[in-house]
Amino acid sequence: MAEPTRTAKLTIDDKVIDLPIKSGTIGPDVLDIRKLYAEADVFTYDPGFTSTAACESTITYIDGDKGELLYRGYPIEQLADQSHYLEVCYLLLHGELPSGAQMRDFETRITRHTMLHEQIHYFVRGFRRDSHPMATMVGVVGAMSAFYHDSLDITDPWHREVASIRMIAKLPTIAAMAYKYSVGQPFIYPKNSLDYAANFLHMCFAVPSEEYVVDPRLAKAMDRIMMLHADHEQNASTSTVRLAGSSGANPFACIAAGIACLWGPAHGGANQACLEMLREIGTVDRIPEYIRRAKDHDDPFRLMGFGHRVYKNFDPRAKVMKESADEVLGLMGIENNPTLQVAKELERIALEDDYFISKKLYPNVDFYSGIILDAMGFPTSMFTPIFALSRTVGWISQWKEMIGDPTQKIGRPRQLYTGAAMRDYVDVHHR
Ligand code: SDX
Repeated sequence: MAEPTRTAKLTIDDKVIDLPIKSGTIGPDVLDIRKLYAEADVFTYDPGFTSTAACESTITYIDGDKGELLYRGYPIEQLADQSHYLEVCYLLLHGELPSGAQMRDFETRITRHTMLHEQIHYFVRGFRRDSHPMATMVGVVGAMSAFYHDSLDITDPWHREVASIRMIAKLPTIAAMAYKYSVGQPFIYPKNSLDYAANFLHMCFAVPSEEYVVDPRLAKAMDRIMMLHADHEQNASTSTVRLAGSSGANPFACIAAGIACLWGPAHGGANQACLEMLREIGTVDRIPEYIRRAKDHDDPFRLMGFGHRVYKNFDPRAKVMKESADEVLGLMGIENNPTLQVAKELERIALEDDYFISKKLYPNVDFYSGIILDAMGFPTSMFTPIFALSRTVGWISQWKEMIGDPTQKIGRPRQLYTGAAMRDYVDVHHR
């Protein structure tokens, strides 16, 4: 754990409180306020946690000004270019890149856990066919605790390990089942002969009536999308997983909570909302109207896929995703895809506009991902489930780090109360 490097002095009325300042490896120092309420009888106030570090972590680092994203110290650009998703999973979970033998063992364990308990097929069939796949994901992942009783004890490292492997392995199968169910096609079982991303594409797009061969170039693009979404520090859904986990809830319930939070359009739901926005804009001549609306405070419309709480220069994932979009659409022979043209022109115009420049709004990870997924044949409703299955390893890594921290306590924020002071009950006849 980081140790204090110096002390800040806080003066409240006639009292001076010493607050330790702790430094990390890189990034901003933190003011340790854990004793503030006991010593000064005041809380800090930070509703959106814009200036609050909720934990100490060694997993992912983001520098919003430099546009840097590091997984265990490795830049996302290098991993996206040289690694693959399961290797990134190992890195996030264990802190180091695996040896050849460690990678083969890890890949075998994941592959052998991709099938689901057969009873879950009946659970999925309980949903309406027109359910949003995210509803199915939240329900099925939460229900996994009803099926896998031998990996629920969070105090048992082996239970934690098995639950982690099971979720990383089974989330693609669940997402594919949700998709197949929504289009009325039979479920396709995982194939152990395929790698992780290819297996997911096969489970989504194969049909029993004919052989489906996954294009390795599309599998590589899907694998890259998964890597780009794998983890992202203490974002809203990761913080949800940590908070749920702090109560001792079982790992499946915690990940289901993370999926639920990710669904929101301000978070992981933005990839679906962004493609729907680009389609609504339709042609580049309609872009100025939407730029005007995005700048109008009286209009709730925002440019989906734009802006970020941390990135105030550019989102390095968006840069990689934009290159991948050009590659995949070129591969599909649709490089003149109108949606991609609108996206590129919208980005160009916005980045020259003082409103976006002054508010440091740039394309984020969700701006181009939907264009690629759409070109691959996914409906917009599957965009956030793909984000969720990719982020599962990040949620689990952060959850394991928290559970393994001997100092961790149940998360229980306080408040600034501005409601009614104490008053006596008034009988209805006297109101
Ligand atoms: C993800 O946290 C993570 O790391 C998340 C994520 C991950 O990997 O886990 O990176 C994934 O969620 C990416 C973000 C996806 N969301 C969207 O694309 C939705 C559109 N973006 C916004 O809703 C917004 O930018 C947020 C939610 C992403 C960030 O919001 P903040 O940091 O709370 O900023 P804010 O809402 O306070 O906005 C600051 C100003 C405001 O104007 P003022 O009130 O100061 O005048 O910028 C404006 C906002 O109105 N603004 C936008 C805008 N985003 C912010 N104006 C137009 N369009 C936008 N997209």
